[in-house]
Order: sequence, then structure tokens, then C-alpha cells
Amino acid sequence: MTSLYSCQHISHSYQQGAQTFPALHDVNLEIKAGEFCLIMGPSGSGKSTLLNLLGLIEPLQKGRIFFHGQDLQAIDEARKNQLRRFQLGFIFQSFHLFDVLTAAENVEFFLTRQGVPTAERRTRVQQALEAVDLWQHREKRPQDMSGGQRQRVAIARALAKQPAVILADEPTASLDQDTARSILVLLKNLCDQGRTIIVSSHDPLARTYASRVLNLKDGHLQAGGQADAH
Ligand SMILES: Nc1ncnc2c1ncn2[C@@H]1O[C@H](COP(=O)(O)OP(=O)(O)OP(=O)(O)O)[C@@H](O)[C@H]1O
Ligand SMILES: [Mg+2]
Repeated sequence: MTSLYSCQHISHSYQQGAQTFPALHDVNLEIKAGEFCLIMGPSGSGKSTLLNLLGLIEPLQKGRIFFHGQDLQAIDEARKNQLRRFQLGFIFQSFHLFDVLTAAENVEFFLTRQGVPTAERRTRVQQALEAVDLWQHREKRPQDMSGGQRQRVAIARALAKQPAVILADEPTASLDQDTARSILVLLKNLCDQGRTIIVSSHDPLARTYASRVLNLKDGHLQAGGQADAH
């Protein structure tokens, strides 16, 4: 079976004025469909950078990434948009919610862009908000919600898209233990239903739910980049 993701010799750095900030060094990584892959590592180790590259959010600088055997460097922007829109659900570390929209509208926004019919949209919005226990807060705007609630709206937005791959950047960072556990259970259930889950976290609790743990240190992926045979 081909890997869902195959990353070969990825290096990445950020340029700010004359200064270069290295983020990833020669990362090689295979991720199979259906894995629950946890990326751990200290702050600044490159977790968000790696997720952003896998989510087609950050343009690739060096190396190659294959998605379903397809070289991401070789496909045009329209095809990349299609992948982002239909296959990938991204939960950002900083949420990226629209301030002027309510929780329900934030969840619905990308479904409208996907062309999901109105009745189906409403059902998915309700299901997603109920899954993160926020249905009663659906009319609130982000500024009227707690950090943890905003985090859960961002999670609901990714769930509602029903993507094949969910990329989540520290999805439990602003949650208490019980809520964090319920989010991890939710992600594990999605994985059991056949979706691929790729999560970055500092939270040792996340280890319990992952099928594989990857460790990043100063932009280097420690041993374990190859997918386990399972
Ligand atoms: N836009 C940017 N400009 C300059 N440097 C950046 C930028 N984004 C990330 N970096 C640097 O790249 C390195 C990796 O950052 P990254 O955000 O990927 O780490 P992280 O593991 O996600 O950290 P955290 O756990 O704090 O979220 C860090 O040294 C960071 O300062
Ligand atoms: Mg990060």
C-alpha cells in the first residue's frame, strides 16, 4: 500500500530581514491512511511548520511531499485548493475563526464554499457543534467565548467538512483535562472510522490515543518516521 503522505528530505526555514530561522532539517516521514499520528516536541521544534506543510498551508521550500503518491510540487494551485477544500481539515493553533461570524456560521462557512446543500449543511453544523458540546453556544461570536470554546469551534469546523485527513495543531492546548480527553476520544473515533489524524501536542495524555508518536527536536525528526506495519 502506498503511503498517504511521503515526505522526503524536507527542510524549512523562515526569513525575517537578514535573519534566518531554521524550522525543519531533512525530515523524512511516511504516514499511512488511517493512522493517528502524534507529533511531539518542545516549543519551537517545528511541529506547526510540519503540519502547515502537510496541510498545504506553507509552501514547500526544500524536499518533496507526495500525497496519495502525487507529488505536491507538481500539481497546480486549483488542484491544491481542491485538496484543501475537500480532503484536508485543518485545526489551527491560533484557531483562525472569523470574528464577525457566530460559532454556527464559522462551522458552516467552508461547507458553503464546498457547495454542500443547505439542509445537509445545517445537519452537519449541528452534529459537529454537538460533538464538541457547543450547540447551546451556537449563536455566540468568538469574542464572547472562552479560549477553550473557541478551540472547540475550530475543531467543529474541521469535523463538519468530514475530510479524509484531519491535521490538528495542539487541539487540546487550551482545554481542561476532561475536555481535552473528550476531544482526543473524538479524534480517535474518527480515526477508527477510517480517517487519518495527524496531531501536534505537548499533552502526554495524547499518547494514549495515538497509533504512532513522532518526536521533533530542533527541527530534526527523531527515529520513527517510517510508518509501522499495521
Ligand atoms: N513566521 C515565522 N517567522 C520566523 N520564524 C518562525 C516563523 N514561524 C516559525 N518560526 C520559527 O521556526 C521554528 C519552528 O517553529 P514552529 O512554530 O514550527 O514550532 P512549534 O514546534 O510548533 O512550537 P510551539 O510548540 O511553540 O507551537 C521556531 O524557531 C520559530 O521561531
Ligand atoms: Mg506550534
